[in-house]
Amino acid sequence: MKFFVDTADIAEIKDLTATGLLDGVTTNPSLVAKSLAEKGAGRDFRQLIKEICAIVDGPVSAEVAAVDVEGMLEEGRLLAKIAKNVAVKVPLTWDGLKACKALTGEGTMVNVTLCFSANQALLAAKAGATFVSPFVGRLDDIGLDGMELVREIRAIYDNYPDLSTEILAASIRTVNHVKQAALIGADVATVPAAILK
Ligand code: E4P
Repeated sequence: MKFFVDTADIAEIKDLTATGLLDGVTTNPSLVAKSLAEKGAGRDFRQLIKEICAIVDGPVSAEVAAVDVEGMLEEGRLLAKIAKNVAVKVPLTWDGLKACKALTGEGTMVNVTLCFSANQALLAAKAGATFVSPFVGRLDDIGLDGMELVREIRAIYDNYPDLSTEILAASIRTVNHVKQAALIGADVATVPAAILK
């Protein structure tokens, strides 16, 4: 199983890179805002992503803010220009699927995020997603079993070997989540640095 770290904190990323454990990074607008606030002025979102991409060889997810397909494509194309290891993160909505299809066709990695059902994961794979991100912790938060979703997606994708989308277990909150994701066979877990440590 690959480990991504779920952070936009440069020091955390450098620390984990030195261990050889790290296969990639996921960011989201909250994590980026936190990192930029801590580092102060003089840096913006794109610069931060560029810096992360220079530290890590693997995929670095950077999320679009737009909710319409044109906006997602405009932002996604700009993000993809930053570095070849950028994975554009789009929401698992109808417009997000269209953006996924278009960006994938242009050779850009796409992480289709905010996946809350197995059927959604099937749609993401059909749209050509590089990664699909089921949100385990968020489902647990509302009294459901988030890891059950990862299990369902694994079973469905395994039925169709031509689907190449990787399952990226996200919203991981505990070390038990990491173990369960590995037991189920998630391709990747994106984990906060403290949980990885
Ligand atoms: C993944 O890419 C997301 O950044 C992350 O796992 C979000 O989870 P959370 O909002 O529950 O922390």
